Amino acid sequence: MGVRIIGIGSYVPENVVTNFDLEKFLDTSDEWIRTRTGIVERRIAPPEMATSDLATEAAKMALKDAGVTPEELDMIIVGTASPDMFYPATACLVQKNLGIKGKPCFDMEAACPGFIYGLEVARGLLHLPNYKKILVIGAENLTKFMDPEDRATYVLFGDGAGAAVLTMDDTPYGIITSHLGGDGNLGDLLYLPAGGSRMPASRETVEKRLHYTVMKGREVFKYAVLNMQKAALKVLEQAELKKEDITWLVPHQANVRIIDATREKLGLPPEKVYINIDKYGNTSAASIPIALTEMKQKGLLKKGDLVLTVSFGAGFTWGANIIRWG
Ligand code: COA
Repeated sequence: MGVRIIGIGSYVPENVVTNFDLEKFLDTSDEWIRTRTGIVERRIAPPEMATSDLATEAAKMALKDAGVTPEELDMIIVGTASPDMFYPATACLVQKNLGIKGKPCFDMEAACPGFIYGLEVARGLLHLPNYKKILVIGAENLTKFMDPEDRATYVLFGDGAGAAVLTMDDTPYGIITSHLGGDGNLGDLLYLPAGGSRMPASRETVEKRLHYTVMKGREVFKYAVLNMQKAALKVLEQAELKKEDITWLVPHQANVRIIDATREKLGLPPEKVYINIDKYGNTSAASIPIALTEMKQKGLLKKGDLVLTVSFGAGFTWGANIIRWG
């Protein structure tokens, strides 16, 4: 018996913002962004569109793909670092949008690996008799938490959502193994200072722009490469697989240079790595399910393919898993 993804979906807002658009109000250039990050454009949600709106669209697509009705779901988990509000949980809002009630629903804040963390939690819970079908969503509206006057962060992120329906069955397909990790000592490399209980919102926090993300980019880069590589090697070891057994590496899309470094460590050729950061930027917890959905739509994922997903993010948190697709 294994836990399998039986449907997948994604949603990105229509509004495309190119690097050239950013040049108009930031001291940056298409050339800098493209060469340092691989990003060409990103989707930015309009002011009235919140994370639950993106998540709901991705959820509907995943449910349709799975052939599952919202009523059949036993739980909704949303991995997000940019919820609609502190409470209620974005997952509860998604539940309402799907027209159902009575099911457990909660958010999981694990930053960019939120989807991978969500898969792991769902995988564990699906071994209990109460849960047969769980919807896991990675959804972010992080551009609203980036300072449009800070070129070092604003250019990197985009909005979007991805979702998967999971169940347990006796096919040979599904999640083979996974590894999660974290290190709170690195928390000050990437954080959002104000708005929580440590620094509640005040006139001063707004004036000092403390409701926007603070990042030490170079340091984040270093630990990202290290932890992505370690996590990927760990799941290979756990699954007793060789690097060359992997059909696809689907990494978190934060920076194409981080992706390349991970790929090189694994000794994989570029054609085995799925990259779409050029179109969406860093969509945090949404990046991996968006990539998987695109790959499925393009017919790139075949039954039996071994897919290695790996991610890292604020916290620090990291995670990886190997999925036998089907
Ligand atoms: N446009 C133009 N110049 C920029 C810029 C921008 N958008 N952002 C930063 N710069 C400047 C810096 O001010 C710096 O100038 P200086 O040398 O005069 O001080 C210069 O470019 C180089 O900055 P540096 O930070 O060394 O660049 P880098 O090669 O490390 O690339 C990042 C910066 C942010 C792209 C890179 O460090 C990175 O991707 N880090 C990881 C971030 C991440 O993934 N965060 C999310 C985690 S989930």
